[in-house]
Amino acid sequence: MTSLKPMESALLLFIRCVLSIYTFITWPIYYIIQKPWNVKANRSKLRAVSLTSGDDFILYRSVTEIRDVHARFLQDKIDTMEKVFRFAVRQHGQKSALGTREILAEEDEMQPNGRVFKKFLLGQFQWRTFTQTDSEAESFGRGLRELGLKPRENVVVFAETRAEWLISANGCMKQNMPIVTLYATLGDDAIIHGINETEVSCVITSQELLPKFKNILPCTPNVSLLIVMEDPLKPLDLNGYGDTVGVLPYKEVIRLGDFSSKSGLIPKPDDTAIIMYTSGSTGSPKGVIMSHQNVVNAMLGYTSVTTFYENDVYMAYLPLAHVLELISESIWMLYGIPIGYSTPLTMTDKSSKIKRGSQGDASVLRPTIIASVPLVLDRIHKSIQEKIEGGPAITKMLFNLAMEYKNEWTDRGYETPIINSTLFKPIRALLGGRLRFVLSGGAPLAPETHKSLKTTLCCPVLQGYGLTETCAATTVMDLDDNSLGMTGGPLTCCDVKLVSWEEGNYRIKDWPNPRGEIHIGGSNVAVGYYKQPEKTKEEFYDENGRHWFRTGDIGEFSQEGFLQIIDRKKDLVKLQYGEYVSLGKVESELKISPLVDNICIYADPTKLFPVALLVPNLDHLKNLAEKNGIEMSTLEELCNPQMEKLVLVELQKHGAKCRLQKFEIPQALTLVPDIWTPDSGHVTAAFKLRRKVVQDRYKAAIDRMYS
Ligand SMILES: *[C@@H]1O[C@H](CO)[C@@H](O)[C@H](O)[C@H]1NC(C)=O
Ligand SMILES: *[C@@H]1O[C@H](CO)[C@@H](O)[C@H](O)[C@H]1NC(C)=O
Ligand SMILES: *[C@@H]1O[C@H](CO)[C@@H](O)[C@H](O)[C@H]1NC(C)=O
Ligand SMILES: *[C@@H]1O[C@H](CO)[C@@H](O)[C@H](O)[C@H]1NC(C)=O
Repeated sequence: MTSLKPMESALLLFIRCVLSIYTFITWPIYYIIQKPWNVKANRSKLRAVSLTSGDDFILYRSVTEIRDVHARFLQDKIDTMEKVFRFAVRQHGQKSALGTREILAEEDEMQPNGRVFKKFLLGQFQWRTFTQTDSEAESFGRGLRELGLKPRENVVVFAETRAEWLISANGCMKQNMPIVTLYATLGDDAIIHGINETEVSCVITSQELLPKFKNILPCTPNVSLLIVMEDPLKPLDLNGYGDTVGVLPYKEVIRLGDFSSKSGLIPKPDDTAIIMYTSGSTGSPKGVIMSHQNVVNAMLGYTSVTTFYENDVYMAYLPLAHVLELISESIWMLYGIPIGYSTPLTMTDKSSKIKRGSQGDASVLRPTIIASVPLVLDRIHKSIQEKIEGGPAITKMLFNLAMEYKNEWTDRGYETPIINSTLFKPIRALLGGRLRFVLSGGAPLAPETHKSLKTTLCCPVLQGYGLTETCAATTVMDLDDNSLGMTGGPLTCCDVKLVSWEEGNYRIKDWPNPRGEIHIGGSNVAVGYYKQPEKTKEEFYDENGRHWFRTGDIGEFSQEGFLQIIDRKKDLVKLQYGEYVSLGKVESELKISPLVDNICIYADPTKLFPVALLVPNLDHLKNLAEKNGIEMSTLEELCNPQMEKLVLVELQKHGAKCRLQKFEIPQALTLVPDIWTPDSGHVTAAFKLRRKVVQDRYKAAIDRMYS
């Protein structure tokens, strides 16, 4: 903690006084203009009611009314993705649909430490209109037919997020070919598994990922065609893929389709639209079968949440193989909201692949909406925090004062336009300065990150809950919702049921709110797992004319009908004296500490406390070492018992600050100098921990910590 000089303390006191006087004078004006009582009434408005309940279950349904779009879809029977896409093209014809930045040059930039990084010089976004997108998709689909593919034949899309991804997917749907999606970051074994299981003959991939297929093709005998989305700068090398496999550029398929007279084959509502492989934290990935009907209903569920405007723009950078991204991009198309493609490495002016002094994607696009995952939001939160911590003490004090002041008044139902447009303006500017809201899904968002980003980005961060098995749709916060750590009320497409779980001590009779395992039933619930009838039977069932999915997540419903995810069945460990430790919860709290890049908590049920395996942040670890007079610089050197003691103390302090219980806080810790990536196998392609792998790799360390 840096202390203030007397002058600075005086200044701060002076600012506090001015602020109090200012508040006192302006408060009546704000009261009259902003009508905080309305804001508060809207916050606590009922979102869902419990319809029925039994001894061990309680069922909730949304009370939100469906909007015009939804009603119109029902009336016009728009029940397949192909029809949705046609509807969007008819409505928005000449509007911009998909935008990609032009790459002007790739350069080597010398870093101060002598290393060389590749950097891009990027131009403006170049847009395809809805009509152009449609005719490209049409040609792509016909091109596939010319190449001998048949309707209902699976096609794998294995590529990073880009416009051509969405276009080829739509092209396939126009020919009623189910698309099989695989994360670009999956390991070779998982990719082979997906390609083999779906028996595809055609894989659509990108030039960047193409070389991977040199290793993969020998294990996937059914594949006879690779379609490659080109890199705009580098020449495409088609050699080395054998004689039995054709490698064709994407543009060539479009050209074939342009001259084709093959007509489309229109899918029906219960035809398969997507087989989406989940990253799977145990065993090999499972393919979730989503019918057209499932996907359309999930999209419609989201239409009641918020209103969209003419000038809305969306920035896409999450993997399209992630259901959240695929559904959200489909929704933006439905509403005619332009989608600009970005990547995590080119998003801001400071991103690692952006040439110094040139503009990142967010600055050029100025999006009003982004979707994100906690992994990315935690990073943004930490980097803002670091900037502030690293600055002069007085800035830090001012910043904290502003945060405190704003949060206090926001809680009372007021807005703080002046603070928004002064102190927090530079932070907003990082993401283009026009953000209207941020969607977050994929994993629980830590309340601290949630609060800090909402305050500093000056827009709501809407957390949602959904799984691949429910096509990303279950609950989401609305713009009036001011809660932290909750996931909002149920969407109109599904019912949410809580079922008592005796073993884990979660019951629907719990006070003050019912708690239990979450089951989801509705038209958005996927058909099942591809070629896995047993697993499908374990986790899906039919009841009262609805298809249900058992999530394994534990939830709690608040009075207003907000769902909060409080635990996961598999993550719960009962310690020796009977206290339950939720590993995931402890991890998500401790991960916020700047010292932590990644962390895995392990709890032995025969012991009294959990222990931690921690991948440290090198810069912060070095700082901590310096403060304690230790001079070492490499990660390997720093991962030593002496540092472990120091980090443990910091981590325990952090745990107490996050109000973790004493028995939840690790009592021993090992620093690991490895980086956990999907390639190393420690985490899934969606960066979720693979507990079993981590525990096995560090077994010796775990034994040592407990001895
Ligand atoms: C509260 O909700 C009503 C109805 O949804 C809306 O018309 C009104 O603008 C909202 N008020 C505020 C202050 O958000
Ligand atoms: C591919 O799938 C078949 C069954 O469909 C299986 O027998 C075979 O072992 C699989 N091959 C690989 C390489 O996974
Ligand atoms: C894939 O290959 C297997 C044998 O290698 C064959 O039995 C199967 O019919 C092929 N599937 C398709 C769709 O061609
Ligand atoms: C200020 O920021 C808050 C979120 O932190 C937002 O809800 C509010 O709309 C913003 N107000 C203005 C006038 O920008």
